[in-house]
Amino acid sequence: MMNAVFTPAYGPASVLELRRLPIPALGPREVLVRVEASAITAGDLRMRTGDFGRLSLLGRALMGLFGPRRPVQGRSFAGVVTRVGEDVDRFAIGDPVFGSSLSGGAWAEYVAVPEDGAVARRPDHITPAEAAAAPYGAGTAWSFLNDLARVQRGERVLVLGGAGGVGRFAIQVARHLGAHVTAVGSGPSLPLMRELGADEVLDYRETDFTAVGATWDVVFDTADASSFAHSRSVLTEQGRYVSLYASLGLILQMLRTRRRRGPRALFAVGTGSRERTERVAELLACGAIRSVVAAEFPFDRAADAHRHAEAGSDGAVVVYPAATRAPAVSLGRPLL
Ligand SMILES: NC(=O)c1ccc[n+]([C@@H]2O[C@H](COP(=O)([O-])OP(=O)(O)OC[C@H]3O[C@@H](n4cnc5c(N)ncnc54)[C@H](OP(=O)(O)O)[C@@H]3O)[C@@H](O)[C@H]2O)c1
Repeated sequence: MMNAVFTPAYGPASVLELRRLPIPALGPREVLVRVEASAITAGDLRMRTGDFGRLSLLGRALMGLFGPRRPVQGRSFAGVVTRVGEDVDRFAIGDPVFGSSLSGGAWAEYVAVPEDGAVARRPDHITPAEAAAAPYGAGTAWSFLNDLARVQRGERVLVLGGAGGVGRFAIQVARHLGAHVTAVGSGPSLPLMRELGADEVLDYRETDFTAVGATWDVVFDTADASSFAHSRSVLTEQGRYVSLYASLGLILQMLRTRRRRGPRALFAVGTGSRERTERVAELLACGAIRSVVAAEFPFDRAADAHRHAEAGSDGAVVVYPAATRAPAVSLGRPLL
């Protein structure tokens, strides 16, 4: 049996419970990971509250009507392989790994993931918390800026929500791709966005980016703070408005602008994959990107961890099974 953070119904952080559950069974092509850390992302918070935004009904139909179909949530993980299925040849017992469990289950002492899924070896100098904080934001930033928007060296990229879970990595990925980066966030997050490599920063509470007299090749909207129509006047002729947020309007604009000259609208649904996680591992290993971890909580304080993440912070919030940490480490950090 193992400890796991259980979400019995959609609701506030107080719905979360610590439960004893069976250790997941292992398929022939799966590896069992002893979890050392798992991040709480904006997507996880939506899964807990059942808030699927503009696609609310569809979201609940797919994810569960009154509570998550899979009550052990948590996708990103870092840990150590403790068992391997009989047909596994990519990993061995003892390998340090990290990645995303696409069906959840990472807020538990053990998670089973397909060996060919979104999992990769954890680079040596990266801590479990830093590794767990990377796949969601870094993987999304890489697919949206590199694969979808095809950012080129010398282009100008604007990141709306530069201090958020995706935005922190978007700044670094855009810089790595050779772009000039403007990041937009609220006042207290401006120093962090500069530290992460933004060439220029704007406080959205004081400045409308469409009114500063600049243009950009890519506007990456990670905050649902703009729209194609709103950004259009500041997009260059080859400009791309790229959003993390689905809407019927955006999809229609995407279809409409696909074959036309002039600025385009782009949207995709980023899903983790082996290739994407390996790319994130390479970017972490060479120092092109780094995670910012704001707070770490043991599983039995998962509700506090969720409240901390909901309050909006300047970094990732990570949960971990108490058994994986020596008290000196877990008690030595300010948790709230
Ligand atoms: N399509 C996909 O495949 C995909 C993939 C990953 C994530 N997502 C979705 O994308 C969303 C964002 O994810 P996230 O983890 O980055 O969220 P997050 O951590 O909540 O970050 C959002 C950031 O936006 C900032 N912000 C709020 N209003 C703003 C404004 N008007 N202008 C500029 N910045 C503003 C916030 O700053 P303050 O808190 O300081 O206001 C915050 O730092 C989530 O809803 C997630 O579900 C979609």
